[in-house]
Amino acid sequence: MVNQPRIIQLPKFLDERGNLSFVEQMNHIPFIIKRIYWIYDVPGGESRGGHAYKQNQEFIISLSGCFDVILDDGKTKSLFSMNRSYYGLYVPNGIWREMRNFSTNSLALILSSRDYEVDDYVRDYGDFLKLKGNGEL
Ligand code: TYD
Repeated sequence: MVNQPRIIQLPKFLDERGNLSFVEQMNHIPFIIKRIYWIYDVPGGESRGGHAYKQNQEFIISLSGCFDVILDDGKTKSLFSMNRSYYGLYVPNGIWREMRNFSTNSLALILSSRDYEVDDYVRDYGDFLKLKGNGEL
C-alpha cells in the first residue's frame, strides 16, 4: 500500500464563510515537499505530463475545475477523475502518468518530493516499459 498510487482525502473545514482544506508533508502525504508547481490555462483537448519519474513522487490536487489523471504501472492503467479540492492523488515514482480532459479554468496543483531534474524523467513509453520490465524502475 505504501508505494501504491492512491487518492488521499485531506481535512476539510466546511464553513459558511467558505471552506478550508490543507495538506501537511509526512502526515497526509508520505514525502517532504521540495517543489510546488501548477498547471492552468490548458486549452480544450490538450494533455500534459506523458512521462514517468525515476525518483520524484507527486501529490496532485485539483484546486479548481476538474481533469483526469491516467496512471500506468506498466501492466495496469487506472483513471482518476480529480474534481474536489479536498482530495489529492499520490503518485509514487516509477509510474507513467498523463493528465487529460481539463475543464475550462481548471487549476492543478502538484506537490513534488524533488527539485526539477531533467534526468529524472522517462519521456519515452517504450523506454518506460523496458525499465519496468527489467526491474530498473
Ligand atoms: P514538464 O514537466 O515537461 O511538463 P509536461 O510533461 O506536462 O510537458 O514541464 C514543462 C517544462 O516546464 C519543462 O520543459 C521545464 C519546465 N519546468 C521547470 O522548469 N520546473 C518545473 O518544476 C516543472 C514541472 C517544469
